[in-house]
Amino acid sequence: MSIKKTESYEEALEKEERIAEEERTKTGEFASFDDAAEAEKEEALRAERAKADEQLPPDPEALLEVRHLKKYFPLKKSLGGKVLVSLRAVDDVSFKLKAGETLGIVGESGCGKTTLGRTILKLYEPTEGQIFFDGQDIANYKPSKMRPLRTQMQIIFQDPYSSLPPRSTVGGILSEPVKVHKIVPKSEIKSYVLKIMEQCGLRDYYYERYPHEFSGGQRQRICIARALTVNPKLVICDEPVSALDVSIQAQIINLLKKLQMTMGFTYLFISHDLSVVKHISDRIGVMYLGSMVEFGDKDSIFSNPLHPYTQALFSAVPNPNPDVKMKRIVLKGDIPSPANPPKGCKFHTRCPKAMEICSHIAPVYKEYEPGHFAACHCYPQGEDTPVAERMEAVTMEE
Ligand SMILES: Nc1ncnc2c1ncn2[C@@H]1O[C@H](COP(=O)(O)OP(=O)(O)OP(=O)(O)O)[C@@H](O)[C@H]1O
Ligand code: SF4
Ligand SMILES: [Mg+2]
Repeated sequence: MSIKKTESYEEALEKEERIAEEERTKTGEFASFDDAAEAEKEEALRAERAKADEQLPPDPEALLEVRHLKKYFPLKKSLGGKVLVSLRAVDDVSFKLKAGETLGIVGESGCGKTTLGRTILKLYEPTEGQIFFDGQDIANYKPSKMRPLRTQMQIIFQDPYSSLPPRSTVGGILSEPVKVHKIVPKSEIKSYVLKIMEQCGLRDYYYERYPHEFSGGQRQRICIARALTVNPKLVICDEPVSALDVSIQAQIINLLKKLQMTMGFTYLFISHDLSVVKHISDRIGVMYLGSMVEFGDKDSIFSNPLHPYTQALFSAVPNPNPDVKMKRIVLKGDIPSPANPPKGCKFHTRCPKAMEICSHIAPVYKEYEPGHFAACHCYPQGEDTPVAERMEAVTMEE
């Protein structure tokens, strides 16, 4: 390998790899392959699957069921208003969340976690897809139809500083939603609010105080209390502890867990901190560039991560057991732009296991173990028998 004076060793190495890849493509199995036609075919297949799934009834066990959800932000429009370029912030995401459970959503910055949460709450209008909340598809609900459901779905934001109005007292902040949504009779509002404050570890004399008089942890408790005043079923927590010290993080996480046990909340917990997600979640969804690349229950995702991206993310989590030696997988390059995602598998530009097929054909998102989904060419892609039927056949053979 020759290195020009102006390029670093890494740049020269990358160039070598690119040339080798181009050579392989010229001569390999995909030499005369039409990527654009393949992308079109994939899009049509996805639309066909979404259409078929549209007919299915919602899962009665799931409080939240998201099917083929997309949120594209238009970046460039023609004079006639036609969208020419869009940013695919959430791109065909599907999952189910049972009542009383916590689903952790992880992924690098910009992968679409917040957009997913906000689209589920209908703070953003979905581009396509279905959102079943408690059995109703709310994806196309108008704001007036959403209003009665607003109390049932709440969000807690990352930044407790900017999400509280500075000129209201804690009592005023917490009483407001109770009044607006007529949760209890007027005469009982104060005692109701004080009870919620106590549940969230806030002393009763905080009632008369202002947000600037509190620490970050206490402010986040106020935000949690505000979300709870309307007695929601689903709480979306968007990086609720990222802005806090580690010791305070643990207190807030334990508070959320305690509230879930006593009040049966269902959480969608967004975070880029895998240790926190591991602690609080029942199920985990891993996102990359707007797509869900792996989904499953916490134990199978941590003990048997299937997707190379999940493997790389988890290799960075410190293991408390000194006998377990984890090899850290460092991903090369930056996350590409969701406005112009790589062809084929969106992760192929950074994947340590990428094969030739990966840069041409997108892998199918499939269930490989009961409830454990992944999208990767390392695993069989064919439309084989559904997992439940396979399991049945295995049991019968035995
Ligand atoms: N209102 C918007 N208009 C246009 N693009 C947006 C908008 N909101 C988000 N995006 C883009 O969508 C992509 C996903 O953003 P999002 O905030 O959902 O990521 P994230 O995973 O929450 O990141 P972080 O971990 O940094 O919070 C990003 O490329 C972002 O620039
Ligand atoms: S499909 Fe290919 S590039 Fe994508 S994650 Fe799997 S091995 Fe890596
Ligand atoms: Mg975010």
